Amino acid sequence: SKGTYEFYMLKEIDEQPGVMRKLSQDYLDVNGEPVLDQKIVDAVSEADRLYIYAAGTSYNAGLVGKEFFEKLTGIPTEVGLASEVGYHFPMLSKKPFFIFLTQSGETADSRVVLKEANKRGIPSLTLTNVQGSTLSREADYTILLEAGPEIAVASTKAYTAQLAVQVILAKAVGEKLGVKAAKDFPLKKQLALAAEGMQQIVDGKAKFDELASDYLIKSRNAFYIGRGIDYAVSLEGALKLKEVSYIQTEGFAAAELKHGTISLIEKGTPVIALINDPVTAELTRGNIREVESRGAHVISIVSHDLAQAGDTVVLPKIDYLMSAFLTVVPAQLLAYFASKNKGLDVDKPRNLAKSVTVE
Ligand code: M6R
Repeated sequence: SKGTYEFYMLKEIDEQPGVMRKLSQDYLDVNGEPVLDQKIVDAVSEADRLYIYAAGTSYNAGLVGKEFFEKLTGIPTEVGLASEVGYHFPMLSKKPFFIFLTQSGETADSRVVLKEANKRGIPSLTLTNVQGSTLSREADYTILLEAGPEIAVASTKAYTAQLAVQVILAKAVGEKLGVKAAKDFPLKKQLALAAEGMQQIVDGKAKFDELASDYLIKSRNAFYIGRGIDYAVSLEGALKLKEVSYIQTEGFAAAELKHGTISLIEKGTPVIALINDPVTAELTRGNIREVESRGAHVISIVSHDLAQAGDTVVLPKIDYLMSAFLTVVPAQLLAYFASKNKGLDVDKPRNLAKSVTVE
């Protein structure tokens, strides 16, 4: 039940620290070593390339997952939209392994890809929130997201659970393969930081209520910009905001704006800039100046270590590789409050269903 919450979406945003703790408890031992089904770890370790397929928010989680798998396992990883792959299969490596990300486990577009994979004898794993769901039954292996029922149409805690399960799997596979980056990665500590950081952000939600009212609800359009992992989160932030608030929002690689889209920036256009990557932070600062000089109103969401005077939101401390866990929460809250403050039905945006069982 919603309890005292007006909408499930906010309840589910607030539940994320607890989901992180549960996943850490269930999938890591006291020493921080992953405890996953060994058969799954072995099967993934044998692959020469990973292929992640999904739709919507789950696809956006896969884009972050690619970073985890490549950094921690050294296995090249591709991410694709299930709907684009089902009837036009990519060129595959010699030993492919398919990973399906799906909150519901029922997404028709993803099922088409899995059917084809099964026909070709490609090993597969489904990460899903629903035990016994179709994609779970039809894949060789399943890992559950353990996020608890997600009722709001806009996915929130399933996204961060997908991040967590992917990074746990990546560490397990990387360790099995003897990859130093995986052995050295203090995942248990980082997941604890994710939980604590999320808690701090949701405790300060009033700030996002204000920002949404002051800068978003009157706007027709908005942009998210970022580089690297921040680009992946920009796509998710934009999807969240547009689906529940109906403000047309695009997620952009920060440097790409100047190659055309910057012509849409007008006085007051909201640009939400995400900065967590130390390597490209200064370049994104440059992109902020470009849009500001054309009148944009910039909301900057910046990691603890890269923050400067004047930044709108400073995130709690966490490793860059884990930054999506924290960056996405302000994006979820901005979407929630933009929708609510416009008087919309946050949990049931028009034209949308919770699970999409048609192609
Ligand atoms: O159940 P799935 O994760 O497979 O669903 C995929 C998308 O339909 C889903 O993420 C959708 O985009 C949500 N409305 C996003 O908030």
